[in-house]
Amino acid sequence: MKRTKIKDLLHGKEGEVLVKGWVRTRRDSKGGFSFLEINDGSCLSNIQVVADHSLPGYSAMEKQMTTGSCISVHGKLVVSQGKGQSNEVQASEIEVYGSAPVDYPLQKKRHSFEFLREIAHLRPRTNTFGAVMRVRNQLAFSIHRFFQDRGFVYLNTPIVTTSDCEGAGEMFQVTTLDPSNPPRVDGEIDYASDFFGEKTFLTVSGQLEGEIFAMALSDIYTFGPTFRAENSNTSRHLAEFWMVEPEMAFYDLDDNMDLAEEFIKYLLSEVMEHCAEDMEFFNKRIDTTKLETLKNIIDSRFERLTYSDAIHQLQKSTETFVYPVEWGFALQAEHERYLSEKVFKKPVVVFNYPEKIKSFYMKLNEGGETVRAMDVLLPNLGEIIGGSQREENYEVLLQRMKDKDLDPKEYWWYLDLRKFGSAPHSGFGLGFERLVQFVTGMENIRDVIPFPRTPKHAKF
Ligand code: 4AD
Ligand code: MG
Repeated sequence: MKRTKIKDLLHGKEGEVLVKGWVRTRRDSKGGFSFLEINDGSCLSNIQVVADHSLPGYSAMEKQMTTGSCISVHGKLVVSQGKGQSNEVQASEIEVYGSAPVDYPLQKKRHSFEFLREIAHLRPRTNTFGAVMRVRNQLAFSIHRFFQDRGFVYLNTPIVTTSDCEGAGEMFQVTTLDPSNPPRVDGEIDYASDFFGEKTFLTVSGQLEGEIFAMALSDIYTFGPTFRAENSNTSRHLAEFWMVEPEMAFYDLDDNMDLAEEFIKYLLSEVMEHCAEDMEFFNKRIDTTKLETLKNIIDSRFERLTYSDAIHQLQKSTETFVYPVEWGFALQAEHERYLSEKVFKKPVVVFNYPEKIKSFYMKLNEGGETVRAMDVLLPNLGEIIGGSQREENYEVLLQRMKDKDLDPKEYWWYLDLRKFGSAPHSGFGLGFERLVQFVTGMENIRDVIPFPRTPKHAKF
């Protein structure tokens, strides 16, 4: 007989079924029955299995059917009549695949997320983490659907690279040289004898390669892992995170902002539609304003204001900030959150940032003080998207590289795109974990990725 997933059993027809999963709890009644709550991860809900103690072999199995054990149950699905009650399976045959002794860490009590991080191999079996992973999965699927429906081509950009897209020097080096005894020429490490014949790194962004393909296929998107060796021990930063980066030929900054806004609203409504049970759970257990917030965002128009106006808003506020608010300084998380939570109470798109604090590839505005950059800021989160219109003028780009101490020789192919059939184009990057965080309301980014990599932590 074929196994049925619990998700389908909960709305299934009465009859013979085979169900498999992990025991969440067991309760024994005096009347000679045990009630087992089984979960198989197909949905948040468990299904109740009723086991008659007179079942063949029951007494031998009883000791093994503990919290955390994995079992297979053959039985009859009984559709419950009463309101609020759910279907149950009356077992006719049980097999224990794997018992779980009393030292199974996930006993009935509620555990802290910090503790669960230490048992990353078992935390997927908790309600919260299971729900996070199903939402994450839905978001990934919906991201592809959004772009596929609009004719974007999914592009895989390299993970090993020689160029620093963001120019922030936050790259992990990739090498096969012996760290204790690297080959040297005139005292300097000889990267010519390294695996790739030069110094290589893990990518911080697929954007530069994405632009190559946008200059041929018009609309592309990447969705892959990116790496940043920034020593940020915050609840919003990972050293390894996933980024979605669309890149569009013929888009200016306004088109770019329109797409970003449509994209976020689409993803929020997808999750509300397809993850209703899990979202109810987050709304009840993690953030009781979550569903309302998401609905409001879907119906709102994102506030768009220039960086200069943002500075003005911050300067006239009575709030005390840790970091200085002055034209020319980067907006910090506290500023970003203040704008979206207190001033506008909805998502905010800040654009036209000072040239000095933004990357070399962003298009210079007239006057040369600002670039056509944009950041999308969400309440309770801060920056979720960073993007820009790209500089398509060869001379201007070359000058900006020099100003920012980048070696144009290393970016010759990137400059070539401006030499051969250059076109106006734009794109942005959305931090996938920050999206999952925002949607679920989870406080810490380490709890929305299967295996978080952060400073001093890569064990499992
Ligand atoms: O703003 P960022 O650095 O932009 C870029 O990398 C551009 N190349 C994107 C583009 O235009 N194609 O990063 C984009 C987003 C941020 O807004 C944030 O959501 C996320 O990536 N992000 C991080 N998420 C988790 N941990 C980190 N350390 C992150 N750094 C950036
Ligand atoms: Mg950014």
